[in-house]
Amino acid sequence: MANINLAIVGCGGMGTRHLRGLAELQKHGLSEFNLVALCDPVLDNANLLADEAAERFGTRPAVVPALAELAAHGVQAVDITTTPRYHHTLAVEALELGWHVMCEKPVGLTVECCRRIREARSRTGRVLSVAENYRRDPMNRLAKAVLESGAIGEPRLMIHNMLGGADRMTISVWRHMKDQSGVLLDVGVHFTDILEYYLGPAVTAYGQVRLHEPVRRNPAAGKDNDMSSNPAGIYGRWQKVMPATFEPTAEDAAYGTITHANGAVTQFVEDHAGHGRGVFQRQLFGARGSMDLPNDRSGQPVTVHLADGKSLTGDEVLGLVPDFRLEEATAALFGGERLGGYDLPFTEIDPRIIAIEYAELGQVLTGRKPAVEVDIEQGMRSVALVYALMESSLLNRAVTMDEVLAGSVNGYQAEIDEVLFP
Ligand SMILES: NC(=O)c1ccc[n+]([C@@H]2O[C@H](COP(=O)([O-])OP(=O)(O)OC[C@H]3O[C@@H](n4cnc5c(N)ncnc54)[C@H](O)[C@@H]3O)[C@@H](O)[C@H]2O)c1
Repeated sequence: MANINLAIVGCGGMGTRHLRGLAELQKHGLSEFNLVALCDPVLDNANLLADEAAERFGTRPAVVPALAELAAHGVQAVDITTTPRYHHTLAVEALELGWHVMCEKPVGLTVECCRRIREARSRTGRVLSVAENYRRDPMNRLAKAVLESGAIGEPRLMIHNMLGGADRMTISVWRHMKDQSGVLLDVGVHFTDILEYYLGPAVTAYGQVRLHEPVRRNPAAGKDNDMSSNPAGIYGRWQKVMPATFEPTAEDAAYGTITHANGAVTQFVEDHAGHGRGVFQRQLFGARGSMDLPNDRSGQPVTVHLADGKSLTGDEVLGLVPDFRLEEATAALFGGERLGGYDLPFTEIDPRIIAIEYAELGQVLTGRKPAVEVDIEQGMRSVALVYALMESSLLNRAVTMDEVLAGSVNGYQAEIDEVLFP
């Protein structure tokens, strides 16, 4: 164990959360990694994280401001947790240097960025894993097994509705800027991954997107303890120095209809400008029953409504899938192979799910698993499906995934690509 020299590239919020995930994996004796270095041009961020690493691992990783400098530290794999705008440049550079890569979602800022990563990956033959965490939640694993068991019959419809946020900033200013990853991409890419996880490839999308809130408010500006949009409670020190108000450039709401190759349809609402009562609703309707799916990373149970009128929830659902087992690392981290729910605070759920991502990468790099689950193809599809809603809105017609993946429909993304690839 601990044979693969790893560096975390990007030492902000998610870099910190990944470090805690790695520590969680190590605590369970399942880590194949040796954290040798941290990279961030903001050296304060890297040094603070190095201090935390020293506490958690007993050794302080080296700190460098630029990716190329990692070569001096014997790095074999990098974990890219920077803002999305830099994912493609860093991933391509790392792959070309012969390193394996795990990259946070969205794997690229645009479909073109993803295409460039895909080319570098096939050119170099290195492993590239997209750190897409929602599907790895034990409750999504259970619900997927129930769907595959046929208990609710062939899937016909997914309803995916998320509304809330009003005019508040979602975690950081960059998440509201089109050229850095608007909130529909930043959050929506998790949801598009989930749609294809359950229902398979999307084929067409019709969307209407809106920028409802012309001014966003940062309630944490100048304060020490505002927790309004602060996952795992670690973004406060950056939010404190962000502006109290700013003008977003990216849309904050998407309303869409998506068709899948298996004939199923998704009704999709992602509205980060929702006022009044917030909503999270994810339901799957099949030919013989339906399922209510909980919010990701909540540990809340799955509920299944069967043809005979019975409803099963929590551990009762396990009876529908007698052969269902969580894979080894997930079971070890969450304390059981067959879970109908789990009761943990977010600060304990988050590192466990990130630990699963590292565990899988370690298994692939040591030849114990043939391939990563979320590869560049799937990561690129999830990015393309988000943009399909925006491209559709711009054209005021349904678009196909093929058009968006091929780049023949890219009017919405063009202004970002023109700056990135002049
Ligand atoms: N999977 C999840 O649940 C989840 C949650 C939050 C964020 N994310 C993703 O993680 C990524 C980072 O988000 P965040 O919230 O940590 O952002 P952040 O702004 O908190 O941190 C980004 C860090 O990257 C650094 N950085 C920028 N350019 C760099 C470069 N060229 N080399 C090295 N470091 C660089 C910044 O200085 C900063 O420290 C994004 O892609 C985001 O979508 C995923």
